[in-house]
Amino acid sequence: MKTYEVLLNENKAWAKGKVAVDPDFFKRLSELQTPEFLWIGCSDSRVPANEITGTQPGEIFVHRNIANLVIHTDVNLLSVLDFAVVHLKVKHVIVCGHYGCGGVKAAMSNNNYSQVLNMWLRNIKDVYRHNKEELNDIADENLRTDRLTELSVIEQVQRLAKTSIIQKAWKERNSPDLHGWVYGLKDGLINPVFEMKANAEIDPLYKYNDL
Ligand code: CO
Repeated sequence: MKTYEVLLNENKAWAKGKVAVDPDFFKRLSELQTPEFLWIGCSDSRVPANEITGTQPGEIFVHRNIANLVIHTDVNLLSVLDFAVVHLKVKHVIVCGHYGCGGVKAAMSNNNYSQVLNMWLRNIKDVYRHNKEELNDIADENLRTDRLTELSVIEQVQRLAKTSIIQKAWKERNSPDLHGWVYGLKDGLINPVFEMKANAEIDPLYKYNDL
């Protein structure tokens, strides 16, 4: 059997198992999704949002990209954010990075990953530059990478608060809260490193009038 055929077989078994426990499971989900959470995570195959949070289909709206970045010109990310916040009215947006992130490691190196990846990873290099003093004081490279991962997650959360999408939702319904988490590949545990409750203070430079 081909590897992809295993996936299809597993899918049949999974669907059967779900219906056995809850006969209306798929009928209910096919009619409506009301997730409370938007998850912005890394594409890394070892960090599956539902599995590590013990959640089911329908509970988390998910966007993943390399190193879980929030880029203000990324139409994909912004579309997901807009839909989740404006239409699904999620209560929490979680940016979840992970220790041992290949994207963060790559950004700390001088390797040339060719045009597109260089362009993407440059955003992490910028986070390093903004926190150079703290990071350069950490001698151990793994610890330095871990700290950059945390600082990057904090930066991405702050970037969310700089969007008019989030600011408008904060004004209209005092929600969603923003969370920055880092998942540990070695122990499977999530470390919450940062939080911005709805209507948290942001740099006035980034505030929009007439939302
Ligand atoms: Co990663």
